[in-house]
Amino acid sequence: MNRTDQLSLSATRRRSDEIEVELAAKPEQFRVLTGDRPTGPLHVGHLFGTLLNRVRLQDAGADVMVVIADYQTLTDRDAPDSLPVDVLNLVADYLAVGLDPSRCTIFAHSQVPALNQLFVPFLSLVTVAELRRNPTVKAEFDASDRATMNALMLTYPVHQAADLLFCHSNLVPVGKDQLPHLELSRAIARRFNDRYSPHQPYFTMPEGLLSDAPLLLGTDGQKMSKSRKNAIALGATEDETARLIRGAKTDSERMITYEPDRRPEVANLVLLASLCSGLRPEQIVHDVGTGGSAHLKQMVVDAINEYLRPIRSRRQSLVGEPDHLRKILADGVEQANAIGDRTLGEVRRLTHTVYSFAA
Ligand code: TRP
Repeated sequence: MNRTDQLSLSATRRRSDEIEVELAAKPEQFRVLTGDRPTGPLHVGHLFGTLLNRVRLQDAGADVMVVIADYQTLTDRDAPDSLPVDVLNLVADYLAVGLDPSRCTIFAHSQVPALNQLFVPFLSLVTVAELRRNPTVKAEFDASDRATMNALMLTYPVHQAADLLFCHSNLVPVGKDQLPHLELSRAIARRFNDRYSPHQPYFTMPEGLLSDAPLLLGTDGQKMSKSRKNAIALGATEDETARLIRGAKTDSERMITYEPDRRPEVANLVLLASLCSGLRPEQIVHDVGTGGSAHLKQMVVDAINEYLRPIRSRRQSLVGEPDHLRKILADGVEQANAIGDRTLGEVRRLTHTVYSFAA
């Protein structure tokens, strides 16, 4: 991380602490936007990394919008014919963990034309050099199996800016890898306002809310990820969970300790058990003692399965009611379209693209 990124990280961290105080006092002042690409089922990394935080913000009284970023899947793959089912399963994941459609808005990119139209003027506000510099885009391209970068991959941070700005969100829960995108969204808002609405800024500046959620690794010690088959899906069965954890990479030391730097894979299992059981890592390692990784793994399996049991049972009944899930998505899409149409109307007015065609 270079010095500028370091500075922006520490500034965001400081500001996040202040925002938490404002949130507690006046939650209704916040519109939160976050989302996921529908590339597969959500897993425990998502749960502890972002989903529980979304539920917390919703329950605190903030207005939470969740985008299912289906267009963004086209950055590194072709749209599969399973997409409609994948999207409904994502809705089921959200509801199962506690997002409540009467208090939040769940919608899909492709169903909100006005949001997507903002992409056009926004593209004119950024330079190709700026996009080429974005470290997260580079990393995602390297992690993909594509040989060349398509233009959507290069420009998706601009599309993501449309997500944040179309609904005037002022708060974006982020991990550090998303900070470059947030910076770009803020630049687009600032440039649009300077150019088209200098006296009365039109777009709201979104701010990042850095989470202190610990980063969970997958069972192979790499980043937990849907595509690496190293992730425990929220919807996995108890047996699948046990099989994955039993196959997790560890080491041969009998004495279990919590040393994230020296023993990352073992520490990751301890952390999982800790998050699911509510016990501190020190307590977990004390309980396992010299029981070795087999004992630790059994403890992790029990902790995860117990923690996820009510979530899985809710998820299963939801998946059995696809019409209900479709209705929730349709309602969210309708709300997002109402917001998007209003914003696009203002943007057209400000960019002088309102014409009267009356005969
Ligand atoms: N890019 C995010 C991801 O890959 C998904 C996403 C799309 C998103 N739009 C967003 C996240 C807006 C936060 C805010 O997971």
